Amino acid sequence: MNRKQQVRAAFSAAARFYEEAARAQAISADFLAELVAGLPAPQAPKVLEFGCGTGLLTRRLYPRLGGEWLVSDLSPDMLRAAESALPGPRYQIVDAENPDLDESFDLIVSNMAAQWFADLPEAVARLASRLDPAGHLVFSTLAAGSFRQWRDAHQVLGLECGVPAFPTVDALKNTLPQARIVEQTFDLDYADGRAFAAELKHIGAGTPTPGHVPLSVGQLRRVFQGLGSPCAMTYHVAHVIISKE
Ligand SMILES: C[S@@+](CC[C@H](N)C(=O)[O-])C[C@H]1O[C@@H](n2cnc3c(N)ncnc32)[C@H](O)[C@@H]1O
Repeated sequence: MNRKQQVRAAFSAAARFYEEAARAQAISADFLAELVAGLPAPQAPKVLEFGCGTGLLTRRLYPRLGGEWLVSDLSPDMLRAAESALPGPRYQIVDAENPDLDESFDLIVSNMAAQWFADLPEAVARLASRLDPAGHLVFSTLAAGSFRQWRDAHQVLGLECGVPAFPTVDALKNTLPQARIVEQTFDLDYADGRAFAAELKHIGAGTPTPGHVPLSVGQLRRVFQGLGSPCAMTYHVAHVIISKE
């Protein structure tokens, strides 16, 4: 299985119980929905959502904006869960890094999916090319500082962390010079490090960085000890707004 197939399989396996554990995604979706709702958009806009998951953002925005929506994800199971929760929009499997679409949109939106892209600037360029002249591409993604406690607990032990190195906001600004970025930072509490790792797996986000060698049971136990119990985990979300005009 290549990495994209691994990511799709992990999210598909998680689709059924995803929302029981997707606390951070719900907080980010609330914030992003407000940002999107504040943008100028035509009446009944044409909207593409990518990486919809079970539809946390869809349910916050579709009833509010109305219009004609194409809601998409890489994972068929996620897409089915989203569709059964909110009939109305059109649902379709789309790899947002290579969107094979011949339509254009007033708005392209996405919550917490772009961190799975192999090449963010390339994907953003392809997506932005599907915008109408006054359109907006608005998405959230994890930025550096996220899971800082998890990373630190590995570092003090000299261990390699399997969580990807998320880009700094400055790096995002450099690679996406046309973007406006709004930052959101919050902490979530966990019983311990094991509960954090379990939550990532529960939502299907446990696929490690390519080439990561899994830690031994003993190494992982030492990471959990280092984190203590209970522990907090920081989420630093970059909300990226790219406007065509
Ligand atoms: C963390 S979930 C977020 C889901 C949802 N937007 C939410 O806020 O709960 C990430 C989603 O992105 C999807 N995804 C990952 N890579 C993708 C890609 N290249 N194209 C489309 N969807 C992708 C996954 O299948 C998964 O449903």
